[in-house]
Parts: sequence; structure tokens; C-alpha cells
Amino acid sequence: MDTFNQTEAGDGTGMDTTDTVRISVCGTCIDCANAGEAGIGAGAELFDILAELLATHPAWDGIALSKIRCLMACTEGCVLTVASRGKMKYLLGRLSPDPDLAEQILDFAAMYARSSSGVTPNHEWPPLLAPHFIGRIPPTEPNDPSWDDDGADL
Ligand code: FES
Repeated sequence: MDTFNQTEAGDGTGMDTTDTVRISVCGTCIDCANAGEAGIGAGAELFDILAELLATHPAWDGIALSKIRCLMACTEGCVLTVASRGKMKYLLGRLSPDPDLAEQILDFAAMYARSSSGVTPNHEWPPLLAPHFIGRIPPTEPNDPSWDDDGADL
């Protein structure tokens, strides 16, 4: 992975542990809701807001943050992922560098951390964040926890 800015997590080796929840923000995204110059730099700005919140609010301790280059969903910027080993991973997009939205991204990451499979009840997603889920990626590990998808939990 081509990282150029990330917080340490896990066991101090720089590697994530099985418990690490990592938010990876596309630092090269534009805010697609703001055309032209107005949207440029928004991904990096969203990363900075998240980093500041993580540094000052112990409620979100244990959540790791990375800024990476393109997540290949450029038309949906700003884009980020929420992921952990062995869990369903989420792709969120059409985000803007808004502090209230950033708080809800971290609230979702905390909810995700509490789920053994990563699958989260969509009716419990933070309200500002709910319209921004654009994809989920199943885990690849052979000992993945299984889940029942009855349509209520995503
Ligand atoms: S520049 Fe952000 S997904 Fe491509």
C-alpha cells in the first residue's frame, strides 16, 4: 500500500493488529459537491480534521488513520475506507471536510470496532453519514466470522 501519512496503531511495530480499525482517507480526492477550485484539497483537509479529532478526543482511542493516494472512486470524492482484519470493509464517498461529518465517521468506526464481523446495523449508522456508504468489501481471510445478512444489517 502506498501510504504517505499514517498514525501508528497496534503493537508498536507499525503493523495493525487484529483489533485495529483503520480509516484510510484518500488525500488526493476533491470534494465532488464543490466543482472546480472549491473542491480541490478536500480529501487532505478531511484527513487533517480526523487527525485533530483523534488527537484530542480519547473516546476514539484505538482507531488508526492513514492518508493514501487514490482509492479509485474519484467521481465520488471525498472517499475513505473503514477496515479491519477479518471484517467486512466499507467504502464511503461524497464526503466533505466538515467537522460534524468527521465526528460521525469516527463514531461509525467505533461502532464497527464493536462488531466482530464488521457488519453494522444500517439503521444505527450516524445520520449525517448514512447517505455516504457506497460499497462494502468482504474479508478474504479463511477464518472469517460468518454473518447472517437478513437485509437489516449492512
Ligand atoms: S483521487 Fe480520491 S479516489 Fe481517486
